[in-house]
Amino acid sequence: MPTHLTVHAAEPGPVIDRHIFGNFAEHLGRCIYDGLWVGPDSKVPNVRGWRSDLVAALRQIRLPNLRWPGGCFADDYHWREGIGPREKRPRRINAHWGGVVETNAVGTHEFLDLCEQIGCEPYLAGNVGSGSPAELRDWVEYCNAAAGSLADLRAANGRREPWKVRLWGVGNENWGCGGNMTAEYYANEYRRFATYVRDFPNAPLYRVAGGARNDDFHWTDVQMREAFKGPIGGPMLQGLSLHYYVVPGDFPPKHPATGYNHDGWKTVMALGWKIDDHIRGHRAVMDRYDPAAKTALVVDEWGSWYAVEPGTNPGFLYQQQTIRDAVLASLTLNIFINHCERVRIANLAQTVNVLQAVALTEEGGGRLVLTPTWDVMGFYAAHQDARRLPVHSDAATLKHEGMTYPAVSATASLAADNSVTVTLCNTDPAAPAEITLALTGRTPVVSEARLLASADLNTCNTFDHPRAIASRPFDSIRVNGTQVTATLPPGAIASLRFA
Ligand code: AHR
Repeated sequence: MPTHLTVHAAEPGPVIDRHIFGNFAEHLGRCIYDGLWVGPDSKVPNVRGWRSDLVAALRQIRLPNLRWPGGCFADDYHWREGIGPREKRPRRINAHWGGVVETNAVGTHEFLDLCEQIGCEPYLAGNVGSGSPAELRDWVEYCNAAAGSLADLRAANGRREPWKVRLWGVGNENWGCGGNMTAEYYANEYRRFATYVRDFPNAPLYRVAGGARNDDFHWTDVQMREAFKGPIGGPMLQGLSLHYYVVPGDFPPKHPATGYNHDGWKTVMALGWKIDDHIRGHRAVMDRYDPAAKTALVVDEWGSWYAVEPGTNPGFLYQQQTIRDAVLASLTLNIFINHCERVRIANLAQTVNVLQAVALTEEGGGRLVLTPTWDVMGFYAAHQDARRLPVHSDAATLKHEGMTYPAVSATASLAADNSVTVTLCNTDPAAPAEITLALTGRTPVVSEARLLASADLNTCNTFDHPRAIASRPFDSIRVNGTQVTATLPPGAIASLRFA
């Protein structure tokens, strides 16, 4: 039975914020050190220490923002340790991730230089758990003030112009690694910290409160109740975060990223789809306090989380990827797009060598490989700042272990140049999906069609076979008058552009 999709091309809805397609880079394992950062003296081509091939790959997917320095690391990070001459910076133990020595070689100046090289907005996560409001206030001033002692210090360290960093997280997972606080205690702390995290002239801030994980609606309720209406009436928070990881078998992760069967595939799809319910729940709570959706839901950590690759440091969270993760990424991004009235920032965890990365690098600055998730992020770049189009679908609902998910998931948007992009995935690992698609009010003219699929579900991109899975032209698509027909192979993703 084909799946019928109708894209209502003449009914553009809300803008899909480009920041939904952001990434996250933590001082964890080989994400920053020996991942993005190779150092200025490395043989690996780099610009001021940042690996050029990786920067180019992130530019290619039009990465809109990058969250840093954590994660759990953020609430143990003291920004002053990462400025000034590199050789004089303190060496600390990274207690969260493998107990390795953190050299602080990458600090504020280096990270903000990376963002300028990529052309993305920085999203800095401040320390609430072990820091103070004064420390966070000073970091904002150091980055954003045009004058004063902290601006002078910044200039002495090589940067005269303020960076005007807009996106600031006020803590991370403060119910856990960020201080083990109760919702009520954190809400108070948030109000205290947010008071001092100030706007500077021409540098208004977007403050994101540390949010819930999964379906902890109580946490969201308390933050909205306490911080939405600030002391002078306006919201004290522009965003409230949410973290959701797909962990087959739950924490601690025990299932490897590869070598799974159809059951293992279905578990990931079903767990992936659960974030739809979670977002609905958090939206309903937020709507009660903020019906105009002034405060965004910021899903600033999401992705798959498996057992680490054999022989790698368990604290480094290095995992491989297959087409299953690419379909999970497509499914998740479709959910974010469907909730784009409220979900306006999201960050895939993490950029390189950690969890569901878009790239992997060989140890010691060796070869680089792009993962299938990188291809998906490339497909979805077309939706950045476009207007969502309603999609009507009669896709079957699949069931697994008491959970449900759609057999085919699709989203569509209208860009400023009047082109329509449809992104869709077949979540079934065993059966192809026959699709018929109609664009109401338009005769479909396909300007580009691409497919990401893999004959063997467990294939990975490796350093020896770097593009074993790679997007390719989707040749089997047919246009017949007003109807488009296509057959998606089992477990595949497609992107269709209509002029
Ligand atoms: O992304 C890895 C870790 O997962 C982050 O540091 C933390 O915020 C989350 O628990």
